[in-house]
Amino acid sequence: MAENVLYYGDNLEILRRYIKDETIDLIYLDPPFKSNQDYNVLFKEQNGSCSAAQIKAFEDTWQWDQGSAEAYEEVVENGPDKVSKVMQALRTFLGENDMMAYLSMMAPRLLELSRVLKSSGSIYLHCDQTASAHLRLLMDAVFGTNNFRNEIVWHYRRWTAAAKKFQRLHDTILFYTKTNKYVFNQLLIPYTKGSVKRKKQGILHRFKRGEEPVLVSNKELQADGVPENDVWNIPFVAPSAKERLGYPTQKPEALLERIIKASSNKRDTVLDPFCGCGTTIAVAQKLKRQWIGIDITCLATALIKHRLQYAFGRKTRKTYRVIGEPVSLTDAETLAKENWHQFECWALGLVGARPVEKKKGADKGIDGRLYFHDEPDKKRKTKQIILSVKSGEKVGVSQLRDLRGVVDREDAEIGVLISMAKPTSAMRKEAASGGFYKSPWGKHPRLQLLTVEELLGGKGIDYPSSEGVNVTFKKAPKAKGKEIEHPELNYSEE
Ligand SMILES: C[S@@+](CC[C@H](N)C(=O)[O-])C[C@H]1O[C@@H](n2cnc3c(N)ncnc32)[C@H](O)[C@@H]1O
Repeated sequence: MAENVLYYGDNLEILRRYIKDETIDLIYLDPPFKSNQDYNVLFKEQNGSCSAAQIKAFEDTWQWDQGSAEAYEEVVENGPDKVSKVMQALRTFLGENDMMAYLSMMAPRLLELSRVLKSSGSIYLHCDQTASAHLRLLMDAVFGTNNFRNEIVWHYRRWTAAAKKFQRLHDTILFYTKTNKYVFNQLLIPYTKGSVKRKKQGILHRFKRGEEPVLVSNKELQADGVPENDVWNIPFVAPSAKERLGYPTQKPEALLERIIKASSNKRDTVLDPFCGCGTTIAVAQKLKRQWIGIDITCLATALIKHRLQYAFGRKTRKTYRVIGEPVSLTDAETLAKENWHQFECWALGLVGARPVEKKKGADKGIDGRLYFHDEPDKKRKTKQIILSVKSGEKVGVSQLRDLRGVVDREDAEIGVLISMAKPTSAMRKEAASGGFYKSPWGKHPRLQLLTVEELLGGKGIDYPSSEGVNVTFKKAPKAKGKEIEHPELNYSEE
């Protein structure tokens, strides 16, 4: 029986290592576009500002280097003939630049995705104008031009600065299937008022390009609406939207509902290899599909865990596995050595805190923050816990004293030092001298020491953490809302 799995790691490695051939029913991918931007995750501060805590979640900048040259060569030398030819042609046309680096990263991943897709499966590649034309060629080479189904235009409204060109208000989603026998549940759009009126008068026509209009038959009029088209008007996840979690590239749930409903059935397996803050996963969970999510940042995996918990309840944690994140002290040490930033995100995520950007002078001495509420009234003050993460083999009392200074400076309620090494007796003494923060739930030490080993054993921060009190991550709305209003028809092949 398939199971839900959240993987932390590079999707190429994960796909090759864990995902078997032809086991996936539907793939949606929203890779970082070649838009030459560094995306920052913007968390709203308690005073509403966004600037204080920006963490680079992933770099959307590609440069032609040794790595891209190797990826390119591997595809050209060992990939299928058509893919090899397209890549060579693109290199002749583009040269060795950042676009070519991006395409060299995408090519082996698309080949892996084709391998894991079932013969009845579909893949939706989300992109924008920057790379959509190049990706279309690559998708044609990997999946075959005859398996191209649609270029979906996702149209949204937003304010953009005036420029000497038309406003860009759409993304492109390339829809391919593995073969011509594929799952497709026709979605219907209800008739407009005008159509209903014309239908009653018996003058509703169907138009085909280059042909005379034909009267719509009575049989067709029995249906609850007209088949969904390839231009989707779905609102952007606006800054004020309930579902917005603060992930800059978060996609709307309505968009994923449409894709998942059209191209999969209950209990099918949906894969998102660039899953970000987990929109595909949350929608798949809601629509009772199995899911697999992969992301290369611990920040994304931490957000997804919170999203699922808030949307579906604490018990959801039992319905999926997390693979790739440290499960032992040795794993944690390896991660800390390989990628300190990811280690910090992971350790902070375990206690429900989030990292802060290091460059900010104002946040000096702070690695993470956790916000909570413990007063019932509406005007309650937001309280905070300051976290410091230390990796070295030794920790000393001076580090705890520094933290104590920061806790005082920030007027925080509690300070927590997370360390790989066991705290010394001088540190324990210093922590004990810190006194207590008193909440309606009792007394909580103002200075707390936690080792990574204790975190792995399930120990957390001593603070008023009953359900709903931690307000560090924006909560995903509970998953009881209305699904998209689309009557469904079962549909066979085209
Ligand atoms: C555009 S965002 C996806 C947003 C997502 N659709 C959502 O609604 O939240 C792209 C994601 O891909 C992840 N990513 C980038 N390179 C990756 C790789 N090689 N393997 C796995 N994830 C990767 C980034 O960390 C980022 O979260």
